[in-house]
Amino acid sequence: MKHLLSIADLSAEEITQILDTAVSMHEVQDRQVKKLPTLRGRTIINFFFEDSTRTRASFEIAGKWMSADTINLTGKGTSVSKGESLRDTVLTIDAMGVDMMIIRHPASGAPAQIADWTDCSIVNAGDGTHEHPSQALLDAYTLRRALGDLRGRHVAIVGDLTHSRVLRSNLLCLRALGAQVTLVAPPTLMPSGVAAWSAADGFETSYDLDAVLPTVDAVMMLRVQRERMSGGYFPTAREYAVTYGLTARRLGLLQDHAVIAHPGPMNRGLEISADAADAARSLVLDQVSAGVAVRMSILYHLLAGEGDAQ
Ligand code: NCD
Repeated sequence: MKHLLSIADLSAEEITQILDTAVSMHEVQDRQVKKLPTLRGRTIINFFFEDSTRTRASFEIAGKWMSADTINLTGKGTSVSKGESLRDTVLTIDAMGVDMMIIRHPASGAPAQIADWTDCSIVNAGDGTHEHPSQALLDAYTLRRALGDLRGRHVAIVGDLTHSRVLRSNLLCLRALGAQVTLVAPPTLMPSGVAAWSAADGFETSYDLDAVLPTVDAVMMLRVQRERMSGGYFPTAREYAVTYGLTARRLGLLQDHAVIAHPGPMNRGLEISADAADAARSLVLDQVSAGVAVRMSILYHLLAGEGDAQ
């Protein structure tokens, strides 16, 4: 494995290997000295052309805890803002001899394009509305810790599905691990072509959150992505919260063991109420904690392990 561009490139076995390695990486978080020698002498650039808190910080921490030299660049403050092309920018960085670029970009497909231009290892840290594979892996890791083997488990993914790269990666990852998935959204936020897609991939869709919630082992709430919306996808924020938000009332519809996930950043009061976000069954901060371990595992498999989990 040289790049991590899409979950579609990974077999179920490779996904499981990454999650298994992450279990041992997670132990580092509880140590006083958080340092493994594994990536000593390797150089990793975090190149974020879009805003990020969790993904950027956790990739940087993951690299540092494994002794790689990590550097952060953003679109602002680099020659990108002077009009340099994406190709010239990444070839410039490549010429410095880096081993890996971790790329977040507003254009779907940008990391794959960059992988064609350079020799270094490329990780997709979120490209437009396409994919966010490291997020799906950390979500699967977190759900697996809470629920055990995900085969046959029922996960609902709810919210602004049209604009969500997290949805696309999670759907592929959860299906590969054998989970049953139901997508829930208002008709305006269901991805176009979802009927053919669900028929081919064997997942369900619904417009009725109240009907789905009592049947799930996990509900994953996705953010309403106002920055990617040009028109009116729903009448008012209040109506969205009432019909598709995980409100305090809806918590009562969940089975006792069911858990709540959200990749963050959350719009509290819109897709998720404070009661749900802060509930004992909420995994939101477990997802963040897992994010470092899973990203350490990704770096390991791409830069150190040559695909060998041992
Ligand atoms: C997600 C993203 O950027 O795609 N956030 C994240 O990485 N944790 C989801 C989102 O922005 O809603």
